Amino acid sequence: MRFDPSARLTGELVVPPDKSISHRAALLGAMAAEPVRIENYLDAADTNSTLAAMRALGVLVEVRDEEVMMRGGGLREAREPDEPIDVGNAGTLMRLLPGWLAAQDGRRFVLDGDASIRRRPVDRIADPLRLMGAHIEVTDGRYPPFTVVGAPLHSIAYEMPMASAQVKSSVLLAGLLAEGATTVGEPARSRDHTERLLLRGGATIHRNGRYVTVGDCDELVLDDIVVPGDLSSAAFLIAAGVLVRGSKLCLRDVGVNWTRTGFVRIVQRMGGIVLGDLESEFDELVPEEPLSDIDVAFGPLEGTIVEPEEVPLAIDELPLVALLGCFAEGETIVRGAAELRLKESDRIEGVVTGLRGLGAEIEATPDGFVVQGTGRLRGGTIASHGDHRMAMMGAVAGLASEEGVEVQGMDAAGVSYPAFVHDLASLV
Ligand code: S3P
Repeated sequence: MRFDPSARLTGELVVPPDKSISHRAALLGAMAAEPVRIENYLDAADTNSTLAAMRALGVLVEVRDEEVMMRGGGLREAREPDEPIDVGNAGTLMRLLPGWLAAQDGRRFVLDGDASIRRRPVDRIADPLRLMGAHIEVTDGRYPPFTVVGAPLHSIAYEMPMASAQVKSSVLLAGLLAEGATTVGEPARSRDHTERLLLRGGATIHRNGRYVTVGDCDELVLDDIVVPGDLSSAAFLIAAGVLVRGSKLCLRDVGVNWTRTGFVRIVQRMGGIVLGDLESEFDELVPEEPLSDIDVAFGPLEGTIVEPEEVPLAIDELPLVALLGCFAEGETIVRGAAELRLKESDRIEGVVTGLRGLGAEIEATPDGFVVQGTGRLRGGTIASHGDHRMAMMGAVAGLASEEGVEVQGMDAAGVSYPAFVHDLASLV
């Protein structure tokens, strides 16, 4: 699909519901003692895989427009499915779900997914769950298909070798069903949606610096969950608004949890105009997910350095930082982001090869990239590699480019933002 250079973007938009929070709402809804109503659940490929998985586990799931009703059997009642659970492209489902299933006594579960899922390592969750007593088999030591046979679990104190909200969440879910209090240490802060929802559900959970501790729990009680707009989807429109001269956008009801707004802080530091009532950094764990409208306007950009501790707070938006870096004055560097190689595609390789093909001066490093800003991008053709975020970055690059961009594999956007092309067109 082709994206031509655009005149200024203007207007208002409601961005799609948050993917990370939708996955977690469905999982915790399935684990809760009473029916749970989820408002504004994301209707996209990844989060529909989660609903299908919950059905396969015996949970009643009813979808009405943007509302989902879930009725599960409680924490220890996941049913053994007849067939492998297909997570599709959803890495979050692949990594969070085993945390719950590992404690379902004597029942066997197989999780598998698409070609991208099969090349993304799962030893990072198998390791801590095995330390808790889980029975797990993986393929070639580290890949899906992933088999778990439920067993009694015991608590652990686990230092994660990498900052990963998915790994942290998986261990916390297992911790709910393990005997004793489970502590997870993360090398840098990562998104905390699981912690907030568990707190809301009545679990004993607290955070102390970079450590989170959860106690064992008999039941979760959640009533309504309202999913905010997805900052990671909004990020593409923020980038478009900042890059296309004369633009002025308003994005409504976006989730502005501090652990998700690293990209906004990076763009502000680069000189882009992005305004909203953003949550500040905090110590105490709170159950709410804050919302804000976000105003965006074109602004001249300067290069910046993204350091490792900032990476998990903007992990899915780092391809956009590379794109912004092309238009900035000076150098933009991202370090400590080797995790990008393990996403839906190798996002260091894809960004560097893709943007270079459009005329960018960009080099890969083992754990990030270095961009020399030239203030412009020629245009050309870019491949999504089946990765939703790469496809949407290519589209934004097209609007800001001189000659337009052809994105190969634009349909990948359906994983998190099915209406992306439509929404973008409405602002042009
Ligand atoms: C996610 C966490 C991040 C992110 C992914 C969603 C989540 O992965 O890249 O898109 O919902 O927990 P890691 O925690 O593995 O970095």
